[in-house]
Amino acid sequence: MTRTSHPAPAARSTHHPAFLGLAATIGLSFALGVGPARADSLTSAPFGTLPNGTVVQQYTMTNAQGLSVRFLSLGGCITEIDTPDRNGHFADIVLGYQDLAGYDSNNTYFGAIVGRYANRIAKGTFTLEGKTYHLPINNGVNSLHGGTVGFNTQIWQVTSKPVSDGVAASLTYTSPDGQDGYPGTLSVTVTYTLTDSNALRIDYQATTDKPTVVNLTNHSYFNLRGNGSGSALDELVQINADSYTPTDATQIPTGAVEPVAGTPMDFRKLTPIDARIREPFQQLILAQGYDHNWVLNKPRPDALTYAAKAYDPETGRILTVFTTEPGVQLYTSNFLNGSLIGSSDTVYRQGEGFTFETQHFPDSPNHPNFPTTELKPGQTFHSVTIFRFSTDG
Ligand code: GLA
Repeated sequence: MTRTSHPAPAARSTHHPAFLGLAATIGLSFALGVGPARADSLTSAPFGTLPNGTVVQQYTMTNAQGLSVRFLSLGGCITEIDTPDRNGHFADIVLGYQDLAGYDSNNTYFGAIVGRYANRIAKGTFTLEGKTYHLPINNGVNSLHGGTVGFNTQIWQVTSKPVSDGVAASLTYTSPDGQDGYPGTLSVTVTYTLTDSNALRIDYQATTDKPTVVNLTNHSYFNLRGNGSGSALDELVQINADSYTPTDATQIPTGAVEPVAGTPMDFRKLTPIDARIREPFQQLILAQGYDHNWVLNKPRPDALTYAAKAYDPETGRILTVFTTEPGVQLYTSNFLNGSLIGSSDTVYRQGEGFTFETQHFPDSPNHPNFPTTELKPGQTFHSVTIFRFSTDG
């Protein structure tokens, strides 16, 4: 995340030099180059009506390769990502609900924009510039993912954004001062760009009129074999991190930064998710699987760098994640318990998908040794995450 003062310096530009270099690499290696030329498009259609009468729109972004990403005006929720396997067969690779009622309650946060503070704040309390703030307690004794009216529950204004490579949409939302206990009016713009080189780039930008804390992420659950294909835990994951932040029994970081070496948290080599998930390692027992923040290896803070990868040997699908954020939460859908029928018309069970929630570390406002999540008036928050889709074919 970049927190910069006005006027906007280069780091705010979408033409960030690091991204241009990266885009060139993607373009060279991943242009599929098959089938007739197609045009990028952004379309919308009503998805349903909320109990209060609000009509929720579903938007479909399609790129020149035929990949598509669907999302809602409600919570910016990504409901579908259709990508080809190594033989060119498309499948939806994210979990979703069957209908709007699911996204309206969305206690799994499927595909959603999560804010104002993604992940947990201990006992829902933090102190900023000498004043103590109290947030809703909605996860045991802690506050999770922004509280009771988090950004995933809000209607976002969606406009199409012209881009030279692919198709893009801007989603804006203004969070009022005091909403869920957070200080400051926060003006947020999240931009989804589906490039013609098969990357979904998410730009998060925010400004405030009072000092506040901000931590924004996307909560898509991936299953590269396809939504509804069963457990994703035999898919392989790599995380570019030498350390992680262990938690207490309520999943709040202890404040320590521990090496992954010699533990089941070591994903420095591409490893099946379930290879060590049953080891009697205290952190895995506390979280009922992986649900932790890894400290990404970075040459410098805010650099847009390689964060993680997932690979499904059966279909050949590869997901590669890049981010400016200092951390990533790998969550192995430990709390899906077989009671929810998904958009696949099948029941989701534990391990059905996994998330890569790029983020600042959980509970940062209470850990001065963690990178700051404070945003002040006159500063602009900007972070970038890229999900790149490819195959081994
Ligand atoms: C995050 C949390 C998990 C869980 C999910 C939502 O990943 O870290 O513990 O709450 O969100 O179910």
